[in-house]
Amino acid sequence: MTTLADDKLPCTFVIFGATGNLASNKLLPALYHLEAAARLSESLNIVAFSRRDWDTARWREHVREVLAERIKGRTDDAVFERFLARFVYLQGDLNDVASYEGLATRLQHGGVACSSTVFYLAIKPAEFAAVVQNLETVGLNKPRGLNRIVVEKPFGEDIESAHMLNQLLHQHFDEEQIFRIDHFLGKETVQNLLVFRFANTLIEPLWNRNFIDHVQITVAESIGIEKRAEYYDRAGALRDMLQNHLMQLLTVVAMEPPPALEADALRDEKVKVLRSIRPVAKRAVHAHAIRGQYARGSIDGEPVVGYAQEAGVERNSVTETYVAAKFYIDNWRWRGVPFYLRTGKRLAKQTSMIAIRFRHPPQQLFRETPLESVAPNWVLLSIQPEESMRMEIHVKQPGLDMDTRVMQMNASFVKTDEQTLDAYETLLLDVIEGDRTLFIRFDEVEWAWRVVDPILKHWAVEREYIPTYPAGSWGPADANRLFDSDDQAWRNEL
Ligand SMILES: NC(=O)c1ccc[n+]([C@@H]2O[C@H](COP(=O)([O-])OP(=O)(O)OC[C@H]3O[C@@H](n4cnc5c(N)ncnc54)[C@H](OP(=O)(O)O)[C@@H]3O)[C@@H](O)[C@H]2O)c1
Repeated sequence: MTTLADDKLPCTFVIFGATGNLASNKLLPALYHLEAAARLSESLNIVAFSRRDWDTARWREHVREVLAERIKGRTDDAVFERFLARFVYLQGDLNDVASYEGLATRLQHGGVACSSTVFYLAIKPAEFAAVVQNLETVGLNKPRGLNRIVVEKPFGEDIESAHMLNQLLHQHFDEEQIFRIDHFLGKETVQNLLVFRFANTLIEPLWNRNFIDHVQITVAESIGIEKRAEYYDRAGALRDMLQNHLMQLLTVVAMEPPPALEADALRDEKVKVLRSIRPVAKRAVHAHAIRGQYARGSIDGEPVVGYAQEAGVERNSVTETYVAAKFYIDNWRWRGVPFYLRTGKRLAKQTSMIAIRFRHPPQQLFRETPLESVAPNWVLLSIQPEESMRMEIHVKQPGLDMDTRVMQMNASFVKTDEQTLDAYETLLLDVIEGDRTLFIRFDEVEWAWRVVDPILKHWAVEREYIPTYPAGSWGPADANRLFDSDDQAWRNEL
């Protein structure tokens, strides 16, 4: 993975929207952990840009409060003070060019000769245009190739708006300056999947249509929409999760080995997968995708309201909070193997996993024994809550009869004395070091939109009705109809 030479490392990290949720929940804890791990260069300053009328002292107070809530275990006082000292707060309006002039002045007089700056857009997508235009107006999009801009999902709300957003970014920044984040790629399991597949010769020969029956990718959330009604009611589960996170997981499961572990080599292979996904024909949308919306129910024994009763949601909203879809990848490796993807809110458990089911043995050798049918083998990769891998293998039970049991071979990625990293720690360090391997190139975004576009378009005109599922369940029972054969079923547990 290519990273920048030390003298090219950025010395300023600007967070637009520093007082927002993303900054508090993800960016500040991740930056603190990088500080604690001594991975931030001494010269790195962090500018917190937001609209509240705060000064740096008030901001540092805020950082203290945020981290006290979110950092488990004791924080080291010396590390904490070093971290706080990196920050300055800049009050400004994203739409006001004078605020950017102030920012430019601050960057010029920041002290050490600054090679480059990272601009992190932790703001609503509606504000992106103002920020990139204003950065150019005051010359902060330069040096080209060095100053970087980090963009969060959602990257557009359909293929057309994704193109427009991309054009806008490219008017002011070169592709190598743009870091599109999909934080699922920063997760240890996802990176480990690359190692599992391409560092183990044991596995790779089995990883194809000859041995694999189907693949399931589940990202289940027990939380509701929290305070994101304004965004979520426009987006829905297909745009919010499936088009980006689940599609990215699919590409990593299905891709061919890249010629090198370099950003473009890896992304080329991911794009090939997306391009090979069989387009869902208009008339086949019903057979390939199902949607649902949570109704009232209970989570962990506590009653919760339905989606349509959530604050900020229209009572007659038909936005989907659950989506399940089936895709086929028409290439030599995967032709005929269904990939089932599902995600939803207010489901029974907070869990994300990739479940790979292998085919039945070609001969039912044990048919005449007490053991009539043998359950298939599974490889399970858990992404959350724990990061682990499990293989299910049959062994004979000791005794006179031919009985078997399923042995679970567990490979936890993390030893008990090791700490897992949050995806944002990995990704922020990569942004700072200029490694784009785990970031999304525009053609990936574009092809992923193409895959889901027929479903989006079909649902956009079917606005009268949406099936519901009780909060706390595994989603609409109708999701079972996606399966190609009777012996396929959703795998809910590891
Ligand atoms: N929240 C998450 O966990 C999450 C996860 C994945 C992706 N994202 C993406 O991350 C981005 C940010 O989301 P968020 O949930 O953090 O949003 P948010 O909580 O609404 O925060 C928005 C931030 O922008 C600031 N802001 C808004 N208008 C401004 C203006 N005119 N001038 C200056 N500052 C302004 C706000 O300042 P005030 O506080 O003063 O209003 C606040 O700091 C979005 O693109 C979202 O889709 C978020």
